[in-house]
Amino acid sequence: MGNRTLAILKPDCVQKNLIGKVITHITEAGFKVVAMKMTHLTKESAGGFYEIHKERPFYNDLVKYMTSGPVVPIALEKENAVEDFRTLIGATNPQNAAEGTIRKMYADSIEANIIHGSDSDENAAKEILHFFSRKELLENYGL
Ligand code: CMP
Repeated sequence: MGNRTLAILKPDCVQKNLIGKVITHITEAGFKVVAMKMTHLTKESAGGFYEIHKERPFYNDLVKYMTSGPVVPIALEKENAVEDFRTLIGATNPQNAAEGTIRKMYADSIEANIIHGSDSDENAAKEILHFFSRKELLENYGL
């Protein structure tokens, strides 16, 4: 799975009608969309995705927010995908995000921060499989 990362356009991105703008920003930065879907996460699915944050004080609110509306998970390909994508989206807290980053431009708060990006190659591989089964990746997306 090297050179791939998993993005999620979060409920606030969809709600604010920013899907097109954000994907344009991503593809113009050299990322290729290799798998994408629109889905509404269940509490179980969102809770599982953010399992590593289970003990954090913001976990329950995070799950509530991620299940508040549809999201768009996207598998992306590019050389050095994980690191380059995190640079492109900016810091978790939009107040600390660099000028020109997606979160700086569009995000309102540390929780409603528009977009997710995997933080390592290992997690990218796991996170892609959270949304796209191996069978689906092979049969529908040729991956
Ligand atoms: P994400 O990159 O998807 O990874 C974990 C998410 O938890 C993060 O984006 C934010 O949406 C949320 N998050 C992280 N830190 C905090 C925090 N201190 N308070 C509220 N939400 C947070």
